[in-house]
Amino acid sequence: MNRTTDTPQSPLILGGHSFISQLGNDPPASAEEQRAIVESCLDGGIRGFDTTYQPERVALGKALDALGRRGEATILAWNFFTDFVPGDPVGEAEYYRPGDIDIILEQLRTSYVDCLVVVSLDDPDENRRQVELAIEWRRKGYARSLGLWVPDLAVVEHYRNDNPFRFAIRPFNVTTDDAAAVFAACKACGWETLATSPFFRGWELEKIIAAAAANGYDEAETLRPTLADLMLRFSLFQSNVDRVIVAMRKVEWIARNLESVARGPLTARERRRLRRLRRLATKKPRWWQLLRLLGTT
Ligand SMILES: NC(=O)c1ccc[n+]([C@@H]2O[C@H](COP(=O)([O-])OP(=O)(O)OC[C@H]3O[C@@H](n4cnc5c(N)ncnc54)[C@H](OP(=O)(O)O)[C@@H]3O)[C@@H](O)[C@H]2O)c1
Repeated sequence: MNRTTDTPQSPLILGGHSFISQLGNDPPASAEEQRAIVESCLDGGIRGFDTTYQPERVALGKALDALGRRGEATILAWNFFTDFVPGDPVGEAEYYRPGDIDIILEQLRTSYVDCLVVVSLDDPDENRRQVELAIEWRRKGYARSLGLWVPDLAVVEHYRNDNPFRFAIRPFNVTTDDAAAVFAACKACGWETLATSPFFRGWELEKIIAAAAANGYDEAETLRPTLADLMLRFSLFQSNVDRVIVAMRKVEWIARNLESVARGPLTARERRRLRRLRRLATKKPRWWQLLRLLGTT
């Protein structure tokens, strides 16, 4: 029985920051743990793997190579070329240059990427040149599709007509008030939409847990699975979101997050609860709010 093809494809994509210590909660996963995380993802139907930064490409390439399962994975890669170790700054995006695709493919130990993501920068001529380069790489089969990082509506407007992109990528979580409008505009352009950062590096998750626990709502350890479930479903089941990129440095998060997917969209009652929990983290609750919060849950 081919484990992977029988498991339906999950709308979750493993975040690249799973392979680095920066931009997350827990200590970095060891090479063995990283391999176990990739293997558990594939076995669980999570076949999408994002690699934003260079060390993430190297780590995923190594894990898939060791498992011999590159063929089962769909890989995203971006125009970040800074090498860094734990504690170092992660660096900024750079315009794609001829030859960069060879670096990306070598680091990922593969002959193609499934989606090459373009982060547009300030210089319009340079942006035009890097998009032409990406199109050329797609024509040669080095990239099976192209994706666009969409920080705001201006980028959507710029690429609305005549663009080579299949995917639009940007954050959607409880802190991104502008996301719904941007995702609706991306959908109107016919792009498949990938939402990143449902827990905002995990930091927003921890912030709300701390605020709720500090207000005597519940123990942090009890709150974490509940809140993580509400926040992941909040992002995933937005009307114009197709898939979610979530970082996981622990194998246990994979089963947890797949269970959340299976629970489906938030109920009105869950949505109200998430809003109230988040409010605790954004401002100190008045006494009657705390009473009501304790009363309604
Ligand atoms: N600005 C952006 O948002 C951006 C830009 C480019 C690319 N991306 C892509 O999007 C990915 C996701 O965004 P992100 O890295 O900002 O963070 P995220 O996915 O919102 O949060 C990841 C954090 O949540 C924790 N976590 C995951 N599942 C959990 C669960 N069930 N219960 C409790 N904690 C859980 C993880 O803990 P551990 O530390 O234990 O793993 C990790 O620290 C990135 O890795 C990257 O591939 C994002």
